[in-house]
Amino acid sequence: MKKGEKGILIGIAVVSVGMMLFQGFMISQDTEPDPGIPFYSTAPKEVQAQASVLYRKYACRDCHSLWGLRSVLQAVPAPSLDGMGSLRSEEWLYAYFSAENPQAILPSRLKPRFRMPSFAHLPESERRLLARYVASLKVEDWYLKETQKAAYEKLTGEEYRP
Ligand code: HEC
Repeated sequence: MKKGEKGILIGIAVVSVGMMLFQGFMISQDTEPDPGIPFYSTAPKEVQAQASVLYRKYACRDCHSLWGLRSVLQAVPAPSLDGMGSLRSEEWLYAYFSAENPQAILPSRLKPRFRMPSFAHLPESERRLLARYVASLKVEDWYLKETQKAAYEKLTGEEYRP
């Protein structure tokens, strides 16, 4: 090996070790606790399981996201259901799902085919289960404002100014 080549190799080694040390230093400096995911459900496991079946059956996820997940085909700017139970009560949700015209309760800014459909034709037990489940979708206090803001902006298409 020529002298120059050796020098370059040593140089590379020094730079790589230096970068590793620097990275380790930055990670150890990052002591902010990870606040984690703010969304959770208070519903018993069996309610969650039954509601998930309805959620799939009635294609809620064609338009809404839940647990941060959205369908790849989803093109409708509907509010996310994450944390919805901290924004709406179970009674409100039941009335909304039971309405022949949900837009009489919550006006829409979207073209008719993208709007929240009526689920008034579902059996009462299914509407109750959906309302109970969506009402159980809570958000931690520290993320409540963000959730209100996101829901407001989805519904109105306007910037949220409290
Ligand atoms: C065709 C798209 C579509 C489908 C399917 C759909 N929604 Fe919606 N939903 C919307 C839209 C859009 C809104 C906002 C109001 C509007 O524009 O009509 C909404 C509003 C809501 C709201 C109120 C949101 C708020 O901010 O208060 C809830 C709760 C909800 N939907 C739950 C559901 C559930 C549960 C299902 C399945 C049973 C479902 N949606 C199916 C489009 C849809």
